Amino acid sequence: MLTKEEVIKLLNPVKDPFLHTSFEETGGIVDVTVREEKKHVSVKIAIGKPNTAEQMQLQQEIVSILKRNGARTVGLRFEQLPDEVIQRLQPAQAQEDTSILGREKQPHFVAVASGKGGVGKSTVTVNLAVSLARLGKKVGIIDADIYGFSIPEMMGVEEQPVVRGEKIIPVERFGVKLISMGFFVEDNSPIIWRGPMLGKMLNNFFREVEWGDLDYLLLDLPPGTGDIAMDVHALLPSCSEVIVTTPHPSAAFVAARAGQMALKTDHTILGVVENMSYFQSEKTGEKEYVFGRGGGDRLAEELRTKVLGRLSLQQPYEEEDIFAPAVYQEDHPNGQEYHRIAAKVVAQLEE
Ligand SMILES: Nc1ncnc2c1ncn2[C@@H]1O[C@H](COP(=O)(O)OP(=O)(O)O)[C@@H](O)[C@H]1O
Ligand SMILES: [Mg+2]
Repeated sequence: MLTKEEVIKLLNPVKDPFLHTSFEETGGIVDVTVREEKKHVSVKIAIGKPNTAEQMQLQQEIVSILKRNGARTVGLRFEQLPDEVIQRLQPAQAQEDTSILGREKQPHFVAVASGKGGVGKSTVTVNLAVSLARLGKKVGIIDADIYGFSIPEMMGVEEQPVVRGEKIIPVERFGVKLISMGFFVEDNSPIIWRGPMLGKMLNNFFREVEWGDLDYLLLDLPPGTGDIAMDVHALLPSCSEVIVTTPHPSAAFVAARAGQMALKTDHTILGVVENMSYFQSEKTGEKEYVFGRGGGDRLAEELRTKVLGRLSLQQPYEEEDIFAPAVYQEDHPNGQEYHRIAAKVVAQLEE
């Protein structure tokens, strides 16, 4: 049976999950008792941060080490290391802002905005993201349309993000990382958010999500020109924007306000995407301009920018095995147009 000294020797090399330093160095093994007759070992461990998911993992690790070496039962208690030990050993970077906003290499932030709902803002966000990923970029989406979140459903995401330690791991689909308000609402029930909470939520989506290394982080903004545009500006002074409209002149008129807001907050406008531009007959190839014409051009002129692309009124192809109702396939006419739009965005931001 194990002796007290052997237990200490076995556990000394185990690392504190928060300080990434062995128990030998942290002095984390506080107390060991061995009850020979019952083959019971009880250990008291001090770590940098108790009561986290990492502690659960550590617990399993210690129990399995001790059982492998002859203990039949193991009792474990945890406490926090003294502050001075934590301060001495805390890795320097853990004290800095290591979130996507604090890093040296930041992604290009691209907000997708529109004057009103229903024009295809979320569809554009999703397909621009997927097309950037097809170009080999590392891409994330923040579904910041807090009331009208729809992206998980549009991309056919069925899983939930997991929490690791203090970080939320985004869900990944088609090579795009996604976080959405939809993941944090039960039963699709509506939420009432007040202004300050909106800003806080957005802040959490940047700071508490483990985005990893990203080239592009796209934001699906709520329609209109509300508080959230100001919050985005406060958080991301270097954000650029894509403005979505339909070809109807009045839709473009409303979208212009969202564009003016972008200009007011010094956000660079990358261009206008005109969605639902026309309907193309499969039989004759003829284009019908169901929602009128000229909205995109008029808006681009007003905002002194360009039209990045025009999408036809058409759904993605139906596929049996892949469910993602809003994602256009690479060989779909709209998929190809999104590819060209993505290439223009890359050219503007990287060249
Ligand atoms: N080019 C298009 N052709 C056909 N349907 C589209 C097109 N773009 C968007 N839609 C559909 O229109 C609806 C509104 O689009 P959505 O992206 O949710 O708009 P928003 O985010 O601006 O409210 C959705 O049902 C979407 O599938
Ligand atoms: Mg939407």
